[in-house]
Amino acid sequence: MEKNIKKLISKMTLDEKASLSGGGSFWRTKGFPKYGIPEMMLTDGPHGLRKQDETPDHLGMNESIPSTCFPTAAGLACSWNRGLIKEVGTAIGEEAQTEGVQFVLGPGANIKRSPLCGRNFEYYSEDPYLSSQLAANHIQGIQSQGISASLKHFAVNNQETNRFNIDAVVDERTLREIYLASFEGAVIEGRPWTVMAAYNKINGVFCSQNKRLLTDILRKEWGFKGFVVSDWFAVSERDKALEAGLDLEMPISAGVGKSKIIDAIKKGSLSETTLDASIERILRVIFKISDLKRNGISYNKKNHHSLAKKAALESMVLLKNEDKVLPLSKKGKIAIIGPFAKKPRYQGAGSSRINPNQLDIPFDQIKKLAPDAEITYSQGYSLENSDQEVNDGLISEAVEVSQKSDVTVIFAGLPEMYDMEGRDRKDLKLPSLQNTLIDQVCKVQKKTVVVLTNGSAVEMPWINDVKGVFESYLGGEAMADALADLLFGENNPSGKLAETFPKQLNQTPSFINFPGEKDKVEYREGLFVGYRHYDKIGIEPLFPFGYGLSYTDFKYSNIQVDKRKLLDTQELQVSIKVKNIGKRTGKEIVQLYVKENNSSVIRPLKELKAFKKVELEPDEEKSVRFTLGKRAFAYYDVSLHDWHVKSGKFEILVGKSSRDILLNETISVESTVKLKKKYTLDSTIADVMHEPAAQAIVSMIISSTERSNTDSLGIDRESVLGGIKLSSLVAISQGKYTQMKLNNLIKSLNKN
Ligand code: GLC
Repeated sequence: MEKNIKKLISKMTLDEKASLSGGGSFWRTKGFPKYGIPEMMLTDGPHGLRKQDETPDHLGMNESIPSTCFPTAAGLACSWNRGLIKEVGTAIGEEAQTEGVQFVLGPGANIKRSPLCGRNFEYYSEDPYLSSQLAANHIQGIQSQGISASLKHFAVNNQETNRFNIDAVVDERTLREIYLASFEGAVIEGRPWTVMAAYNKINGVFCSQNKRLLTDILRKEWGFKGFVVSDWFAVSERDKALEAGLDLEMPISAGVGKSKIIDAIKKGSLSETTLDASIERILRVIFKISDLKRNGISYNKKNHHSLAKKAALESMVLLKNEDKVLPLSKKGKIAIIGPFAKKPRYQGAGSSRINPNQLDIPFDQIKKLAPDAEITYSQGYSLENSDQEVNDGLISEAVEVSQKSDVTVIFAGLPEMYDMEGRDRKDLKLPSLQNTLIDQVCKVQKKTVVVLTNGSAVEMPWINDVKGVFESYLGGEAMADALADLLFGENNPSGKLAETFPKQLNQTPSFINFPGEKDKVEYREGLFVGYRHYDKIGIEPLFPFGYGLSYTDFKYSNIQVDKRKLLDTQELQVSIKVKNIGKRTGKEIVQLYVKENNSSVIRPLKELKAFKKVELEPDEEKSVRFTLGKRAFAYYDVSLHDWHVKSGKFEILVGKSSRDILLNETISVESTVKLKKKYTLDSTIADVMHEPAAQAIVSMIISSTERSNTDSLGIDRESVLGGIKLSSLVAISQGKYTQMKLNNLIKSLNKN
């Protein structure tokens, strides 16, 4: 195919090639029938198909055709279920094939630097390993249907404030270990056919014009073979973007982009070879997809709706269940409070907005599942009317209804404008009316359960007053069906948080530097994002990363490693046993973290490096096995420009959450990387004392200067003397050890 593509390109005029590197219309590439180049359609993603036939927009303002609305990434991530995520991607790919769409713009793999980011509902996690694993599976699912995913927004797009111009200033190690790592794993394991460049700058350079990002890292280091598409209207200097490795400018630029390319080539600042190589990348994907096109297929809406329910069931997190208030009995008096029970929050606002095939209503699903219960609804608060009197009335009615019930379920959460593209939240609070309602109801009803529907972490000032909390996130079109099943125990909750819920905003790592000032945001918290921050600083979160309850319980035992010493080129096999010690079947997410003991570089206390989800019948026990490679132990060494493992001891920590480690083993890893030593006059005695060639000389010089045993002064000779620079040895030896000898010593040390 490549030969034919090169031949085809050789027939195209400069104008035709430059036209192909930009959109043909808002959602389509440009077709060239005379060359057999089909027009292709791109639409959003990520949690469903948002195909617009009329009035296109990229902000979620205009309608799209009906499709299955799955839980958004924030919720899906809580399933920690790679296979489930792949199933969802496959279904979306199938719907794209059915609707004649060739590219689905997603998944979003940006890291949740702050819970305030308005698009966190569209992203998976604060942890790059979890995020990259789930994104990779979403990509594989979509592409299994012959449809291209478009991994976005590459990269460091972690806020909505001033997103078109903000410059994310981030140090290299943080960039590599946190913000790029989420994309790296998704590119290498998911192998997306396209990647979408983000709007923002990274360290002063727009992503869409960032050669180091789009060519050196994405292509040369990670082996990305597809093409890079811009975010919509993200490109300003089209010729520079092309040079950097941005292949397709979307949507349309009214000829401006094309002219910039042609002018640059004509004046010699851009080579036509660069354009040809870019067009080749685009055509390679277009022809691949076109070969995989399946005409006349349709998807089964009911099956996809059931999958949406299955995904929602595993995406919801049981955060509190005091006195086993849950599951609810199907008998007795149940009060259902809150407008979200009738008008559910099931997705975020913006370009990802889906027009659902079928939207279930929580109140209806609850009534359906408990026909013999006496279920009473009360609004509790108004989303539209902030009038105090009106809401006082609603609250007092809800209190009255609750007082007469056996249990109350309050639907609370973030109204649509809190979880939306284009704006960030200012705080982590629920609307105050909701907090007041919950407080008032708890005063009269001890058995109060709160169901939250929100796209990102919220504060819960009433957490000690309620008996149960379900975090259902934005659970898609079937969230109500799933929630009813979980509330009544038809299904056992298994979700675990993919982001930390902090107690309050000022404890979050980016609190001081979010969303930055004017056009710059500094990632001064560095590596310490999410649990990496709370662990290191020793702050107790409201609910930790990886936390989630079940209606059963699990016992962990018998951690085994296949070796206690390994080279950084070897793999470590870890196994543990998990047993279901409760009375009902359940799924458990086993998490494995790695900690470096006494590291000589600054590192988080522990980092997630593996996870598995297992289903167990009551009393059933299974072995869970993990394989750890070099990256499980490595940090990014900026002087080496590579991932590096320093020889030393590491803890393998296995647990139910980041704060509930149940098993651990200590192992040693030995580095096989010969670090290039570079001694200079500024090197210290401590730097060279392990070198035999230096030991004798340095000890002789030092001992000749000692008048008394400094030990008697209680000085720690090692560290005091160790800090002396080699350049001082000539002076310390009063010239006996000459500069020439010192220079020769350093030369010989650097030689071997
Ligand atoms: C939007 C979003 C991006 C989306 C694109 C097309 O502005 O940033 O996620 O895929 O434009 O709608």
